[in-house]
Amino acid sequence: MYKIPAKSLFVGKNLVFLPECHSTNTYLLDLVRAGSVPEGTLVITHNQTAGRGQRSNQWHAEPGLNLTFSILLTPRFLAPKDQFLLSKAVALAVADTVADFTSVTARVKWPNDVIVDGKKASGILIENQLEGSTYATAVVGIGLNVNQTEFSVPTATSLRRVTDHELDLNNVLESACCHLEARYLQMKSSQWQMLNYDYERALHWRGERHQFSARGRTFEGVIEGVDERGFLVVASERERQAFDLKEILYLN
Ligand code: BTN
Repeated sequence: MYKIPAKSLFVGKNLVFLPECHSTNTYLLDLVRAGSVPEGTLVITHNQTAGRGQRSNQWHAEPGLNLTFSILLTPRFLAPKDQFLLSKAVALAVADTVADFTSVTARVKWPNDVIVDGKKASGILIENQLEGSTYATAVVGIGLNVNQTEFSVPTATSLRRVTDHELDLNNVLESACCHLEARYLQMKSSQWQMLNYDYERALHWRGERHQFSARGRTFEGVIEGVDERGFLVVASERERQAFDLKEILYLN
């Protein structure tokens, strides 16, 4: 159903299409555990029945209208302490993909939701496997809403909602593979400054005053950026704090 991307070097060259699947991340993790799978292997389905999201959330996508896929990367060159860089690279690749098909500038809501026109169009779930102190494999799961127009929550959107026309899923997948590969190679060739710069620039709410809830209190603050651990740095009138995943909630 999906074409092997012509323009990428390794991402998507080994493509597994499943008409239906519980979770492409779980499927690919099982493949990796079962034996040798080449880097760049892509598992994609038309109908993901038990899509998994961050913080044990579920990911729902209407069958046949969106992209739900997972890619295997082997970032052995990256120290586990630097793993947030991969998260940045993937989120930027999805934002780059959105830029290929819409005139809207996508933003990245920390850590890696992709926001289009103020709403979430894509979610990313990266599942890492370490071997001792080596970052052995990363299963990168991407859900990108493409042609779905109705959502059960008002905070979700799709590319079609902003372009007003239907998009070819194969074209969007090809673009995503190429951008993912380009951002990954940027990381591999130590162009971290560029990734950090692009990520900060794309960061949703950066430099704006908003309300947050964290550590038992609600406060107003301004997102300044992300530190080298990947913690979100927020300055309030009282202090400047760095928050780990799950520690802070965006309010309004
Ligand atoms: C999130 O926003 O919470 C992350 C959602 C990630 C969803 C994708 S869809 C393809 C891959 N398979 C899964 O089970 N989850 C990811």
